[in-house]
Amino acid sequence: MLEVARQRATAAGVTVELVAGLAQEAARTGAVAGRRFDKIVSSLVFHHLGEGSKRTVLRTMHGILECRNGRVIILDWGAMPGILTRLRFLPVQLIDGFDNTRANVEGQMPELLAEAGFRVIATPWTFETVFGPLATWVADGNGSVASADKGGEA
Ligand SMILES: C[S@@+](CC[C@H](N)C(=O)[O-])C[C@H]1O[C@@H](n2cnc3c(N)ncnc32)[C@H](O)[C@@H]1O
Repeated sequence: MLEVARQRATAAGVTVELVAGLAQEAARTGAVAGRRFDKIVSSLVFHHLGEGSKRTVLRTMHGILECRNGRVIILDWGAMPGILTRLRFLPVQLIDGFDNTRANVEGQMPELLAEAGFRVIATPWTFETVFGPLATWVADGNGSVASADKGGEA
């Protein structure tokens, strides 16, 4: 996957640094330590993480986001209300795990984002799929705990 990304970056004429690793270990392994980013994008990764790891990754993201103008953009499975939607989602849960997908299914992503210090400013797209809805959350770092976390910088 990194090789494909490298080829695409080269074709697009952009210079990128590609680092392989587990998101929940990013802060510890130093891949992002001491750096700040304007944009953090995550596509279809969060439903692979248990609730503890979701919290760890969101905290890491918050710690490295440039709060003033930065944005985090997450695409993942959204809330699955109703028994029929839950049944449609069952194959995903059987493959990716019930624990990992629980917070998604129960619509807790906005709550987890807020807990990490994010302020959800838009939910621009929902994609209906055969397995259920995919949702997007766009947030900045200026949630209620953000100022305290970053020494009032937000
Ligand atoms: C469903 S694929 C999505 C791939 C791609 N991001 C996309 O949107 O097409 C899930 C991806 O999450 C990655 N992944 C799963 N657990 C992860 C973790 N703990 N840290 C980082 N990446 C993880 C897998 O390696 C896989 O590439």
